[in-house]
Amino acid sequence: MNQVNDILSLIGRAGRNADGSYTRTCYSSAYFEAVSIVEKIMIKLGMATERDAAGNIHGYLPGTGKGLKSIIIGSHLDTVPSGGLFDGAYGVAGGLEVIRRLQEEGKTLRHPIEVYGFNAEESSPLGGTFGSRAVAGLVTSDQPGLEDALKEHGLTVQKILDSKRDFSDAKCYLELHIEQGDYLYNEGLKIGVVNGIVGVIRYKVTAVGHSNHAGTTMMKNRKDAMVAMARLIVEADRRCRQIDDSLVLTVGTIRCWPGSENVIPGRVECTFEMRHMDKGKTDALICDIRKIANAIGTVTFEITKNIDKGAVYCDEHLMKVIGEAAGRADISHVVMPSGAGHDANPMAYRLPIGMIFVPSKEGLSHCGEEWTDPEDLENGAEVLYRTVLALDCED
Ligand code: GLV
Ligand code: MN
Ligand code: MN
Repeated sequence: MNQVNDILSLIGRAGRNADGSYTRTCYSSAYFEAVSIVEKIMIKLGMATERDAAGNIHGYLPGTGKGLKSIIIGSHLDTVPSGGLFDGAYGVAGGLEVIRRLQEEGKTLRHPIEVYGFNAEESSPLGGTFGSRAVAGLVTSDQPGLEDALKEHGLTVQKILDSKRDFSDAKCYLELHIEQGDYLYNEGLKIGVVNGIVGVIRYKVTAVGHSNHAGTTMMKNRKDAMVAMARLIVEADRRCRQIDDSLVLTVGTIRCWPGSENVIPGRVECTFEMRHMDKGKTDALICDIRKIANAIGTVTFEITKNIDKGAVYCDEHLMKVIGEAAGRADISHVVMPSGAGHDANPMAYRLPIGMIFVPSKEGLSHCGEEWTDPEDLENGAEVLYRTVLALDCED
């Protein structure tokens, strides 16, 4: 009997809000509550566990074979503020369910099997996919704002650099996740075999104008940073739609100085996040955004890149194994890309990666209404389990 729903409910004891949404932002007490729940389950399943400075939890179960490399399963335990139960935690629950089921069926793998619950996958001043980037050795000390962001959590850059792991003893990385879009749901399909994860590129865009009195400064004389930023956002959004149907741009944060009702804003800072599989498209968009900014004229714009996570491709052999596992279980499946970022992205720089998607009701995610039916969660866990069994037959 598949118990992935029960394991997910246990993790969901951490960070549940009164309105049914979840808030387990990185390094919060609710996040570490989830880590403790997962750690207890791992220990109960006989895994050796360890936590690292990045806040990740890791479990290890040896295999019976000699010199065989680990099959790693992972996802994240943090959530966006007021997010859902499924984004991230489902993949960790899926990994634990694989191990629980192996034991229920009296099976021991030839390969070691490992499960990661990563921290800080969601956007934060640390830059997103932080826990997995730390483990993959992709955090660099020159990341803008890193030192200050880590100080907030009592950490140093060196401690994070020390969280890097050697992956020469690992065979592959698998991640089970909700789709977070509406493709599978609308098509009535049950499993997505992911072929790639889009690149995520974030810029800090600052409009520098001049603060002045809101009553005495005539409209023609203003250097209003808010109005200039608003113009840039609207124009950038229009340009994005022209470049490519699957190119996306999000201005998700805004800060305004001095932030007073009767003062013209002198400085406005926003984040411009863009995503696509093809770097050429995001490069074209930022190039046009710079041109639009220069043409606005009333203020000056500073545009600096904060994060550049290139698109990655899933391993073709793993895609085949996942597709065959779904086929054997008689579960409908389709090959598709991921528009969301995942811990599999940094892992792809170290290991072959494979990702399994299940439907998200109405494509909702990063909100309290995020939902996947229990049967769909079981389907995903079934495909993951069969994938692991098939991979264990290989070297
Ligand atoms: C994470 O969910 C992301 O896609 O930003
Ligand atoms: Mn996620
Ligand atoms: Mn997310």
